[in-house]
Amino acid sequence: MKQIIIEGNKPLSGTIKIGGAKNSVVALIPAAILSSGKVKITNVPSISDCDALFEILHLLNVNVEMQENVVLMDSKDLKNALIPENLSNKLRASYYFMGALLAKFKKVEMYFPGGCNIGSRPIDLHLKGFEALGAKIKKTKSKYTITAEELKGADIYLEFASVGATINIMIAATLAKGTTVIHNAAREAEIVNIAELLNNMGAKISGAGSDEITIKGVKKLHNAEVKVIPDRIEAGTYIIMGALLGNNLVIEGMVPEHNIVLLNKLQEMGVDFKLDNQRIILNRAKKLKPTNVRTVTYPGFPTDLGQPMSVLLTQADGISMFEETIWENRMGHVKYLNMMGANIVAERQHATITGPTKLHGEEITATDLRAGAALVAAGLIADGTTIIHDVEHILRGYERIINKLSDVGANIKIVDI
Ligand code: EPU
Repeated sequence: MKQIIIEGNKPLSGTIKIGGAKNSVVALIPAAILSSGKVKITNVPSISDCDALFEILHLLNVNVEMQENVVLMDSKDLKNALIPENLSNKLRASYYFMGALLAKFKKVEMYFPGGCNIGSRPIDLHLKGFEALGAKIKKTKSKYTITAEELKGADIYLEFASVGATINIMIAATLAKGTTVIHNAAREAEIVNIAELLNNMGAKISGAGSDEITIKGVKKLHNAEVKVIPDRIEAGTYIIMGALLGNNLVIEGMVPEHNIVLLNKLQEMGVDFKLDNQRIILNRAKKLKPTNVRTVTYPGFPTDLGQPMSVLLTQADGISMFEETIWENRMGHVKYLNMMGANIVAERQHATITGPTKLHGEEITATDLRAGAALVAAGLIADGTTIIHDVEHILRGYERIINKLSDVGANIKIVDI
């Protein structure tokens, strides 16, 4: 068990370099096993979610080497195996092995995926997609068995533009016979990155990044290389911290277009920032205007930045409204922000935030990954000492967060308890 301890109120100056996107790499790694040869993935972030996927790769007899931020995978001896509960429930993205193993072996057996407790998280849209491709699904109390005699291309209409379902169906359809069209597909930048790897491996996918993706099935995939896109959520989290405490804080290596809605909001609030190519320079503003934030699917305001954003709203001068529309349970951090002195009235997926409120250090708990990031932001602006429990959630998705923040002046450390 680990704790993060922060002495707040230190200005942030210097440069934070953004790493590869968690939500991209966790799909790239399972997708890579479709290749009959070697796949090189560069700009891989050092996060515990990747370690969990490597454990599954070992079980599947995939040779994996990781040096610095480069992963080399060789799936020539890939074997099918039941993915046990202790591995599947380490992270949500274990479910991408469903699409990949189904495509390769026409059979996959795995226990339910895990992930942050931010809502009910059904995977019915993934399963309906597999069924449309010809698969049969057997679900027992905690395990799925999915089999197919053959996967055949199909027209698939998603009821909701689910990121996971779009990627999983795209992966499964890559080796199917004939053409698959995913209608109402999710449009996240990460999906474009996964399609890029699959196409580099010889797949025939067009339309990724739009709401209609066409996959023409191919027989075999070959060696390939791909670079993980910069993590727009990591970038957004540090941008928000820069808005709170920046003293010429530079966020480097991001793709500004991926965070355009966040940047527009910050501009509306009067945050002092300057865009310079793939960098953004932030300074703490004297006064922030309140605003309303509603999380929606990409390219709208990302749900994964809603919790860190709510910390910024506690510092705005007036009343801000916050609405989370993707997940039912993303207000886990509110109780702790209020303990620290915030004035937030939250009911289910809505919150009214009245600011500005001075925050003070408290002993608090990260209930999920992004709640944890929000509490780190709160600890950084609080008077006194903040102790955050259950920080393993944070380490799942933010690489070297302690080093990145202490290098720019934060007084933050992680301790084993
Ligand atoms: N949904 C269904 N049925 C499904 C799939 C999804 O009803 O079969 C619902 C979900 O319950 C939810 C909504 O659709 O209400 C969105 O789910 P989606 O499938 O788009 O999300 P996901 O693929 O499970 C990914 C990210 C999340 C991020 C969401 C939305 C990964 C591993 N996770 O989840 O990231 O919040 O997209 O952008 O890519 C995070 O990084 O903190 C995180 C939770």
